[in-house]
Amino acid sequence: MNLADIKDIRAQFPILERNTPTGLPLIYLDSAATALKPQCVIDAVTDVLTNRTANIHRSVHYLGDEATELYETTREITSAFIGAEPNEIVFLRNTTEALNLVAKAFLGNGRIISSVGEHHSNYLPWQSHNIHRLSLESNGDINWLELEQELSKGDVALVSLAHASNITGYMIDLKKLVDMSHAFGAKVMIDAAQSAPHTQIDVAEIGCDFLAFSGHKLGAPSGVGVLFGKAELLEEMDYWLLGGATVESVTQHVIEAKNAPWKFEAGTPAIESVIGLQAALIFLLELGMDKVEAHFTALSDFTRICLSDNLPLVNIIGGAKMQQGPFSLTVPGISPHIITRGLSDRYGICLRSGFHCAQPLHDFYHLPASIRLSFWLYNTENEIEQAIKGIANFINVVR
Ligand code: ALA
Repeated sequence: MNLADIKDIRAQFPILERNTPTGLPLIYLDSAATALKPQCVIDAVTDVLTNRTANIHRSVHYLGDEATELYETTREITSAFIGAEPNEIVFLRNTTEALNLVAKAFLGNGRIISSVGEHHSNYLPWQSHNIHRLSLESNGDINWLELEQELSKGDVALVSLAHASNITGYMIDLKKLVDMSHAFGAKVMIDAAQSAPHTQIDVAEIGCDFLAFSGHKLGAPSGVGVLFGKAELLEEMDYWLLGGATVESVTQHVIEAKNAPWKFEAGTPAIESVIGLQAALIFLLELGMDKVEAHFTALSDFTRICLSDNLPLVNIIGGAKMQQGPFSLTVPGISPHIITRGLSDRYGICLRSGFHCAQPLHDFYHLPASIRLSFWLYNTENEIEQAIKGIANFINVVR
């Protein structure tokens, strides 16, 4: 993206204009936790709440018609965004809920393979299953030999892995994963929470069986997440939650289920968040995911150089050679929370500190909690440089 583009993009995120406690401009580098929201999303949500409040799929009046149409149009736009069919899109609260749905309702008998590098949402739902967790290479990639060995033991129902790590940024080779898993008869679930905001996803091309991502990490409101499942698999899967909107008819003696995907959307959904997701996806599609991807790669390249110039002694989890953002750093002897608090309160810079919902990964690498710097389409090289220099200054002050 050139400078004029980035200026236009930034102008669409009103929060970038807000006052900060320091009086300095907001520098937001915590987009892997949640992304800032563009004006079009704010407008779409405001419009629903102001003009179109109604329940969907039930209310026989014009407000109900409008809300239902907006909700179902979002399903079509979401399917186009990832190369699926509309009936393969389930709206849930977030990636966590999508992974829990598959963990509960997927009918494959057999073992699960995942990895120690997953964030808690792709870690904890498998605890009660017969699970093998792959080890990681030092750069954040999975151990492919171990995957092949586990698959060849047979009886694997599902391999569930993150497309991009929310710690190292490492992006797994999806084609290789799907081809290898399918060759042994295992289905594949992709956790795309971290990759969908900056990478073009085409489930038809990838060939995966399930894929999940969250709206809030790509500019939509929180409260809406997406599960893609191949139509025949969703149809085979049983309810995971029962309640309103999941049934065609209920009498005292007979329950007639709805078809997928509706049978998985129990109760009144987050209607305004789903419609906000529509606005976020249109925003991204109009911008062009190829442009978003190129900007993300350019910022990643810049960050790598800036880190080695300013923080040569700091450990970058996964090393820095092949990685895309986010970048997670451990600073021996200084709590990451002290650094992020300091950057927030002195410089108006927002970073994340802790285990970033991926404590097993830190544990596997024998690392303490880290500082994470994560950017998205509105960030500039200058902001990243200020944050990295801020961390360097702060380390000097504390030491
Ligand atoms: N899992 C999210 C993160 O990476 C919340 O911060």
